Amino acid sequence: MSVLVESVTKIYRDQKALDGVSFTVNSGEIVGILGPNGAGKSTLLKIITSFLHPDGGKVWINGSIIGGNNLAIKSQIGYLPENNPLYSDLYVHEYLVYVANIYHLKAVQSRVKEIIGLTGLEPEKHKKIGVLSKGYRQRVGIAQALIHDPSVLILDEPTSGLDPSQIVEIRQLIRKISTNKTVILSTHIMQEVEALCDRIMIINHGKIVATDSPTNIKALATKKVQKVLVEFDETITRELLLKLHGVIEISSLSEKVWLIMGGDTDLRPVVFRFAVENGLTILTLNKQESSLENVFLEITKQS
Ligand SMILES: Nc1ncnc2c1ncn2[C@@H]1O[C@H](COP(=O)(O)OP(=O)(O)O)[C@@H](O)[C@H]1O
Ligand SMILES: [Mg+2]
Repeated sequence: MSVLVESVTKIYRDQKALDGVSFTVNSGEIVGILGPNGAGKSTLLKIITSFLHPDGGKVWINGSIIGGNNLAIKSQIGYLPENNPLYSDLYVHEYLVYVANIYHLKAVQSRVKEIIGLTGLEPEKHKKIGVLSKGYRQRVGIAQALIHDPSVLILDEPTSGLDPSQIVEIRQLIRKISTNKTVILSTHIMQEVEALCDRIMIINHGKIVATDSPTNIKALATKKVQKVLVEFDETITRELLLKLHGVIEISSLSEKVWLIMGGDTDLRPVVFRFAVENGLTILTLNKQESSLENVFLEITKQS
């Protein structure tokens, strides 16, 4: 197992940006974290790369727990942050030499040459970063993330803000560099994860709400489901609702209002009996038919 995230929580002042997130990523896997803006993707990736400390929970990279200033672990991680901050006044080649020196690499010149070739930066290597197109800037960001040959690569919205042809090129590059690496990338675009990933995790409001292969997520997405909106007169936990039979997915609109998705039998009597058995009072109980695709669109749409 390459990355192990256990019950990670992050609170900004009074806002829970991550709420008990747990998952594992195997070596060589490409996992996509899909979620709308504000879902907690960047916060999660900053914690995995140890740029941010969690308020609860733990993260292991290749079997070692992260925390403190653990350079040995940091050297196993390559990170392309959101919005790819770069020094616009440095030349591409000069910048990559600078990064290579930060990692105390031995054969700096040959490694920089190699990485420039790999990321397709040869024609632009003597230009200032500030004059590059967004697609080439993104290549520079990927090059700096790869320079020390990390085994784990973390890419935060790697194609955001690119035009369609640049998106295709950057996806091809990501595919090329992900052989023999464990990759976690984030996006708010469903097609992005479909095109690149072995597995998709959908995150919403700081919680992982679904995880499966792109094929299964897609199959799920086109399936007819019914949604039942239920409002209780008190706070209800996800754990309690998970005891309901015939449920595919549960998401909370608030601690009292839940959206329960199930197959083709009417869920309302099931929810009603569940409420009676657990001594709960229902204030609202509404049924709507929908395809799960719409449900996922709701979950993953840009806010
Ligand atoms: N430094 C911060 N201080 C306060 N709130 C923050 C900070 N960073 C992120 N947030 C909030 O945490 C939530 C998750 O943000 P983020 O992880 O950036 O989501 P995503 O990357 O999925 O768009 C958002 O509501 C955001 O406003
Ligand atoms: Mg983000």
